[in-house]
Amino acid sequence: MKTVIHIKHTSILASTVTDGGMIKSSDLRSLSLEDFETKAKEIIEKEGWDYYDYAAGRKWTYNDSFKAFGRYIIRPRIMRDVGERDLATTVLGHPISIPVCAAPTALHVYSHPDGEKETAKGVKEAGSLMILSSEASTTIADVAGAAPGALRWMQTYIFKNRKHTEHIVRQAERAGFKAIVLTVDSPVTVNWDDLDDSFLAEGHGKTDPKYRCINLDIDLPEVHAAKASGDTNLTGYLPEQHNSPITWDDFKWLKSITSLPVVCKGILTAEGAREAADAGAAGIIVSAHGGRQLDGAPAPIDALSEVVDAVRGSDVEVYLDGGVRSGNDVFKALGRGARAVFIGRPILWGLACGGADGVKRILTMLGNELSDVVALSGCCSTRDIPPDMIVHKSYYASKERVGKASKICPNCSCKL
Ligand SMILES: Cc1cc2nc3c(=O)[nH]c(=O)nc-3n(C[C@H](O)[C@H](O)[C@H](O)COP(=O)(O)O)c2cc1C
Repeated sequence: MKTVIHIKHTSILASTVTDGGMIKSSDLRSLSLEDFETKAKEIIEKEGWDYYDYAAGRKWTYNDSFKAFGRYIIRPRIMRDVGERDLATTVLGHPISIPVCAAPTALHVYSHPDGEKETAKGVKEAGSLMILSSEASTTIADVAGAAPGALRWMQTYIFKNRKHTEHIVRQAERAGFKAIVLTVDSPVTVNWDDLDDSFLAEGHGKTDPKYRCINLDIDLPEVHAAKASGDTNLTGYLPEQHNSPITWDDFKWLKSITSLPVVCKGILTAEGAREAADAGAAGIIVSAHGGRQLDGAPAPIDALSEVVDAVRGSDVEVYLDGGVRSGNDVFKALGRGARAVFIGRPILWGLACGGADGVKRILTMLGNELSDVVALSGCCSTRDIPPDMIVHKSYYASKERVGKASKICPNCSCKL
């Protein structure tokens, strides 16, 4: 054990770290999200940090994903009975305690030796939902075994070799996952040349089987052939599986092989949303892949409204990920029509700093902040945020302001 100093806002706090570099559970509460990021960068080896922190191109989309939240303003109501706030909601009919969930991110083993198993425990303890990445470093069955009975969805791509997708779907069904999440924003492998070199060069990802995408390293003739030809860790074979420019016919194929609901992840336009709804998607995650795919795509919070409007009146649920870093961000996304939000990198920071406890702390910290913003805005539930409460800042330059109380809150009967 040794003592380290963290800067938290303006105060300096001392916390105790374990031999593995993680922070003692009792000290996690004193860390801000920025502290988690700083500490995670110290704990995670450079190769993994570079991979996690990567963003595409000139990082326009990545940077704007955070900044864009500042373009939305909360028009608070006052003198409401906000003594009891309810953050719970449902996703595809399944209850969650807070509307902040874990996005699918690959290779959690860089953050923690037990990888996604720890993440699963932390998310379960927070009463939230985890989407497991098809590129996880832990088998689907092991993740399920680590946190039995928890709510989980399974992310997949439609890989060039469809047998990989089928394998992932079958394993997820067997392990009790409740939905399949198809990532639709990645028809080709991105050019990773701009990724800092340690991940791509001689890092563990290339040489140590511990860092492989275990759910894709399966008993298939094509996999055996790749290994026999010297590609032991599949670092040539697997990226090639991503060169799979899918269409809605492939989406229909995916739906035809499973009875689980299918959610589309990576939609940023009304056109895409309508196509997804017509094709039978149960949900849409408005996402720019954390700024890791198309640079120049809109910040998800900017794209949210048009997606929500496009599927209004249907059963399609809309969620958001990208740049969410505070309860304030969460509130704005919910107020603009998202049913829940997902976070990617912060979960990896929490995992590195405190394992399952760190993941839980990240989620509950955002939940606590959200609860405060809900109260300060004069709401009592995240499900009943008045539609005109979160406005684009251009509203304050316009003469036609909303300003009319029009609804009655179903919880406390106050005017919204
Ligand atoms: C290290 C890392 C790995 C990711 N892996 C996947 C993946 O396997 N599948 C996927 O659909 N999205 C993946 N994503 C994107 C996330 O699901 C999510 O869209 C993004 O991280 C949200 O942005 P945030 O990190 O700002 O919260 C990954 C993101 C990161 C940072």
